[in-house]
Amino acid sequence: MDPEQQLREACQACVRCPLAAGRHGAVVSRGPSGARLMLIGEAPGAEEDASGRPFVGRSGRLLDQLLAGAGISSEREAYICNAIKCRPPGNRKPAAAELAACRPWLDRQLEQVNPALVVLAGATAVEALLGVRGGLSRMRGQWQSWQGRWLMPVFHPSYLLRFSSMEPGSPRWHTAADFLEVRRRLDRLDGPTSGQEQPLPPRL
Ligand code: URA
Repeated sequence: MDPEQQLREACQACVRCPLAAGRHGAVVSRGPSGARLMLIGEAPGAEEDASGRPFVGRSGRLLDQLLAGAGISSEREAYICNAIKCRPPGNRKPAAAELAACRPWLDRQLEQVNPALVVLAGATAVEALLGVRGGLSRMRGQWQSWQGRWLMPVFHPSYLLRFSSMEPGSPRWHTAADFLEVRRRLDRLDGPTSGQEQPLPPRL
């Protein structure tokens, strides 16, 4: 069995936290397991829980639009997952204990996919991976070097659903620009200077 399938089966059997009792199924990932870009969201919602695929509801459709707008194929170029694999009741924000219980699965995904670039969609993904709470507006759009990877926080698509404006300076405008920057860095991974770039200091 391939490692991704093993991971799926292990997650379906997981009872590390009480969310296991309320799930229809654990939601592990969509997109190629060899992608150079990993996008980490928060947690599955009702549609994700029912379908077993992350980001398939309203915010998922917006996410796909944002990726496509930057020329990134969500089917071919991005491995999409969440900080936790089971739906919290009423779509509440995951508790710190739930993030911690699910962290080994996220670590295994990072190890198996081994992405060069990681996009953290929303404050919960930032908290889950970096242990940093708050400050997303300051952190978004900035690359950080983290454990040999480039990592960028962006606004979560469900937050962006509250705004329709694409005016310069609006949250959607910033996020479109952030994904264009992700596209640029993906392209640079293949470029003549790949591997020579120095990590930028984190701007926290
Ligand atoms: N929001 C998320 O963070 N993840 C999903 O899979 C769906 C909505």
